[in-house]
Amino acid sequence: MTVRTLLPASSILGIAGHPWSAKADKIQSATGILLGCFLLVHLHFESSILLGKEAFYQVVQILEGGMFSETGHGFPIVTKIFSILILLVVILHAAVALRRFPAQLGQWRALRRHMNVIKHKDSHAWFWQLVTGFILFFLAPVHIFTMITNPEIGPHLSAERVYHANAWLLYALLLPAVVIHAMIGLYRVAVKWGFTANRSGLRKLAKVMIIYLITIGVFSLVSYIYLGHGLSLPIEPYVPTGH
Ligand code: HEM
Repeated sequence: MTVRTLLPASSILGIAGHPWSAKADKIQSATGILLGCFLLVHLHFESSILLGKEAFYQVVQILEGGMFSETGHGFPIVTKIFSILILLVVILHAAVALRRFPAQLGQWRALRRHMNVIKHKDSHAWFWQLVTGFILFFLAPVHIFTMITNPEIGPHLSAERVYHANAWLLYALLLPAVVIHAMIGLYRVAVKWGFTANRSGLRKLAKVMIIYLITIGVFSLVSYIYLGHGLSLPIEPYVPTGH
């Protein structure tokens, strides 16, 4: 006599894993790499204010396509469209990341127990990515929406936003959260997809990058505050010398 064991479809999925899950994993890594690389470039461009107003002005004009206008002045619409694209990538990244979030108190307790018992550095890194991801869920859209609705960037215009419109408060919270999240994220992607076997070297690099990016970010923020403090309202956009 043959005995057939019929498994309900749901339990087969439970064993084999849902095909969507592998796809969601790839989307999460791909959008994460894109956003992590964007952040690395973004913070460097933005820190050109440390080299002076002229340097930051020129970076903005190049990024906004100043070479295509007769006056040499860029088009803020470029920033607006790019910001909408980045927002879409952030939404996609958050949507696939949400499924990993511990949803119930019991799951949080299990995670904490696991971290206390298995003192593995990667579990701690994952925990910090979870916490910073939660913070970014609220802070990142505020900044990106501002760049969509008010895309004018320049030494004076940015200083006005940072100092007179109090965006420094947002940036002071956003900067550490996004830098930690992005660097741990890039580290985890590199380990997960087997880009390197040298975990401890990569962990050190991630730590150095976190300290480096927060440092240039804080110095830039202080520059904008200092600049904004020296400007009286209404703010006149910066005009480079010799124009
Ligand atoms: C394409 C969209 C974006 C544009 C056009 C943009 C532009 C800017 C600009 C011009 C500043 C300088 C201050 C100001 O003018 O207000 C700034 C600061 C900042 N942005 Fe963005 N940003 C974008 C997306 C993002 C994203 C997705 C993140 C990370 C979630 C981010 C994180 C930051 C941080 C942390 C600062 C403060 C840096 C510091 O403290 O020196 N930005 N952004």
